[in-house]
Amino acid sequence: MKLFRADRSVFDVEVQIKALQSGKVKYTVLLAKDITDRKQKELDLLRFSNVIHHTINPIQITDATGNMVYVNPAFERVSGYSREELIGANPSILRSGKYGKQFWKDVWGHILAGNVWRGQLENKRKDGKPFYSDLVISPIVDDRGAVVGFLGAHRDITDQKVLEQQLVRSQKMESIGTLAAGIAHEVGNPLTSISSLVQVIERTTSDASAKEKLDLIKSQINRITHIIRELVDFSRPTTHTVQPSNINQVVKDAMNIVQYGKKVKDIVFDIKLDDNLPHLEIVPDQLQQVFINILINAVDSLDGRSGTINIQSERRDNAIAVLISDSGKGIAGEDLDVIFEPFYTTKEVGKGTGLGLWVSYGIVKNFHGDIEVESEPGKGTTFTVVLPVKGT
Ligand SMILES: Nc1ncnc2c1ncn2[C@@H]1O[C@H](COP(=O)(O)OP(=O)(O)O)[C@@H](O)[C@H]1O
Ligand SMILES: [Mg+2]
Repeated sequence: MKLFRADRSVFDVEVQIKALQSGKVKYTVLLAKDITDRKQKELDLLRFSNVIHHTINPIQITDATGNMVYVNPAFERVSGYSREELIGANPSILRSGKYGKQFWKDVWGHILAGNVWRGQLENKRKDGKPFYSDLVISPIVDDRGAVVGFLGAHRDITDQKVLEQQLVRSQKMESIGTLAAGIAHEVGNPLTSISSLVQVIERTTSDASAKEKLDLIKSQINRITHIIRELVDFSRPTTHTVQPSNINQVVKDAMNIVQYGKKVKDIVFDIKLDDNLPHLEIVPDQLQQVFINILINAVDSLDGRSGTINIQSERRDNAIAVLISDSGKGIAGEDLDVIFEPFYTTKEVGKGTGLGLWVSYGIVKNFHGDIEVESEPGKGTTFTVVLPVKGT
């Protein structure tokens, strides 16, 4: 309850009323204890915990053994785990596996000694995707100096990291592109001479064993020529003319070409195109090559089994997205980053060059677009080509 002071100001008291009896006399004792300080502390605590609860920074509090006793909503959002899943768990469930045992030993040694640890970490969300944080871990110490828990305050730097990685990737692609153009030229010319020499010898010899070896040489030359052609395609983009194009038509043309293949007879192509899409300023031949590459990969992912490939186009704000999904073998999380690298292939020698996606990525970037991949091993993969609509 509240009482008045002599100056009429109000203060909080905790009141106890007791009945006492001494012989025949009955007393009523009223004990009032001034709790202004305690009230103030409670209010401070409430304010403090509200700040922690509502801040956009993900916060976790653990006990002295490192098990989580509190997480705020921002932490739930960023980690993808619910509070129920996190309370009582060890923060190591968020580990990305990117740092060794020694690293974590050092971190623990540091904070157990009562020091603040600060650093940038790659963590793993519940859905397996990475999230990056700038993390400060401070020990919580009681009046006697004993560590009773830890406060982990994160700053979510995922967007920043993703942008950095994209920049590094596009710079790498650009320099490799220049290199590729050079190599294609330097290797292409001698290769043409070799192949005409092979033809000359072939015509002038009647030795069966020599002819057999020449056939082998020719097939090897074909392999190199194939790679060179892809490299040249990549380094040629600027020589084509950009024209307003109907992306649906480009997608349909690509699909028709892929459907000629031998491996597609058990595959159903399910195509759903949005008919109200604006024209795009692109080079249709190049975009057609992108869709052919992605479609052939989708066909390959089925390994000759029957299945469905879904093709879809749709408007997305200021862009157009073309989605190509297969029900094939999928791509493991750690491979998602490398599939765009030149020469990365999981196909047998002679079957894949590992240049398809690299070339496609280069072409799409040229038109300021992007290629996104989502995949679940064993279930299938979706490639999304996003192209901006000009003037929006
Ligand atoms: N739809 C897909 N499903 C499964 N894996 C894929 C898919 N698309 C691409 N990949 C993987 O990416 C790799 C690189 O693709 P790409 O650059 O087109 O080269 P290639 O097809 O010559 O191997 C493939 O070898 C394959 O491992
Ligand atoms: Mg390919």
